[in-house]
Formats: sequence, C-alpha cells, structure tokens
Amino acid sequence: MAIQTPTTPMHHPNLVDGTRRHILDLDDFSPEEIELVMATTDAMGEVLGREIKKVPTLRGKVIVTLFYEASTRTRVSFEEAGKLLSADVINVSSSGSSVEKGESLLNTVRTLQATGADLIVVRHPHSGAPYFMARNLERTSVINGGDGWHAHPSQALLDLYTIRQHRGSISGAKVVIVGDILHSRVARSNLWGLTAAGAHVVLCAPPTLLPQEFLDGSYREDPDSSGLASVEVTFNVEEAIQDADVVMPLRLQLERQQAGLLPTLREYSKMYQVDERRLKLARPGALVLHPGPMNEGIEISPQVAHGAQSLIEEQVHNGVAVRMALLYLLVANKEGPPSTAQDTPSGELPRRIRFL
Ligand code: MLT
Repeated sequence: MAIQTPTTPMHHPNLVDGTRRHILDLDDFSPEEIELVMATTDAMGEVLGREIKKVPTLRGKVIVTLFYEASTRTRVSFEEAGKLLSADVINVSSSGSSVEKGESLLNTVRTLQATGADLIVVRHPHSGAPYFMARNLERTSVINGGDGWHAHPSQALLDLYTIRQHRGSISGAKVVIVGDILHSRVARSNLWGLTAAGAHVVLCAPPTLLPQEFLDGSYREDPDSSGLASVEVTFNVEEAIQDADVVMPLRLQLERQQAGLLPTLREYSKMYQVDERRLKLARPGALVLHPGPMNEGIEISPQVAHGAQSLIEEQVHNGVAVRMALLYLLVANKEGPPSTAQDTPSGELPRRIRFL
C-alpha cells in the first residue's frame, strides 16, 4: 500500500501578505500582487499631485542605487521616489566606487548591507546578478533595475500602470511589442506582467531578433512558460498592429547585438518602424508606449513619438509613482514576518528565464 505523506502547500513570498523581500522579475507575480502595486501606485500618484510632495513614510530608511550600467530614467526615478518618501538615498555607480579597484559584487553588496542599507536597486550587465545578491543578503532587499537581457520589472509595472490608467483595465487589451525582443529585458518582464494581467500579447520582430522559443513555438509546450501560451508571434508589422490597443516599439539594443543580425538600419526601419501609416491600422486612439531611450527615425517615427497617441512622457512620470509604491511595499513592510529560506531565491536562476 502506498504511504501518503502529507504535503503542506509551499508558501510563495508575496507583497500581499508582506512576505516578499525582493523584486527580481514579474514571472513570480500573481495578478493580486500586480493589482496591489497598481492600487499603491494610485495612492503615490495622489502624493505626487500635491503641492508639497514629500511624505515621511520611509524616514530613517536607507536606499542605495547601485548601477553598473548607464541609466537616466530608472536611476533618477528611483532616487526621486526614495527622496519623496523621505528615505536617505545613496547613489553608487561602478565608476568612482571600489568596483574600479576590483571589488567583487558579493563584497560590494555585503559592504552596503553592513552600512545599514535597507534596500538596493541594482542594474547590472549580467543576467542573474540581482538573484545572486538576493541569495547573499539577509537584511537588505533587492530590486532589479535591469539585468542584462533578462528582466526589468519596474519598467514593466509602469507600462502596466500606464495602460490601466488609460483603459481602466489591462485585461483583454491587444498589446503589440515590436522590435528587438531578443535583447530586451523590458519585453521579457512585460510578457510576464501583461499576460498575468490578462492582456493579449503579440510579439513582432525579424526572426533574427526573436528568442528561439518564440521562433519554434516551444514556449507553448514548456510547463515553465505556461503563462505565456496565449502569446502570438509574427514577423509582419502590419498584421501585428491591426486592431491593436497598445503599440510598444523597442529600441534596437545595438550594444548587446552581435553583428549580422540585420541587413541595415535603413532596411529595418522600412520594415518595422512604427510610423503614422502603420499606427492607423491600430484601433482608434490606440496607446503608444516606449520604454526609452528612443532612437527616433529607427524604431519609431518622430511624428508617432511626439503625436497625440504617445504616452512616453507619461510613462516617465508614472515611473516615479510606481517606484514609490515598490519601495513602500518592500521597505515599510520590513518589520513584518521574519525572512525564511523560501524568501530568498536559491540555487540557479529560475528555469523560466531560459529564453534569453
Ligand atoms: C533598459 O534599460 O532596458 C531600457 O529601459 C530600455 C532600453 O535600454 O532600450
């Protein structure tokens, strides 16, 4: 007779009960957690609308931004978010710090933890670096501000927020992501976030700029990416944009590309640029999002970038409120339940990020 061993359902750390310590990607976010971030962002947006925007919520807390790669929007908005919540914000970049003297990532982050940092926002050229940090920090939370090609969760959350703000809901929206999907961490995090929130996502790129799983369709069979089964893939931009509710062109991440993926930039923009003619194929009033930085005239025409349907500046504005919400949800809840082994990602990177 088979002996049945009682199994306790594994507790998944989450923002709703205050047990999540790190935000590394959206692949482990439930729809409830996304909704909590959206609702908290609404509250932070209200603070941003006040004449005096500063609130004492995170007084006495220390937030470090640790950036090993260039950034304007992400770093500045996290800094502003922390300061508006009255945290002390310290910016560290690889140049000018002990990293230049050869200090390892592990020693750098342990040093920051020892100085009393409550949370580190990290951007790193290597996929997985924030996971490594989270495994090695007992008292300090980590937010992934962009790791290699892998993930950029706060960008995806601000994209979700911007869509929700304009449409009332993300569920049911046809969202088309056009461009260099292969090298884009924004596309990867958006895929998880948008599908969890019920959007219908269409990816459009030349075959050389799509991850293998999306080219051969194996993402549909993989149990680890079952949440992505409804995602569609096309090489034809006109077909993709037809009846879209949201169009999101992506920059060609030339700094991450090998040579030979595209014939010429001119050819690419002729085939894939989101311009006024193509945007007319979308639903009337469709929203145009871009994570920035833009290369106008390549993936997006200047007329679309600065046209009436563009929400690009609004995304940047919403980025501050979303990041205030994330800092609040991780740091203000810190006195809550003690951290557990399940709290900290262990072992290798989650299998689900394989489609790099
Ligand atoms: C990123 O850091 O990935 C940006 O927000 C998008 C880009 O660099 O194109």
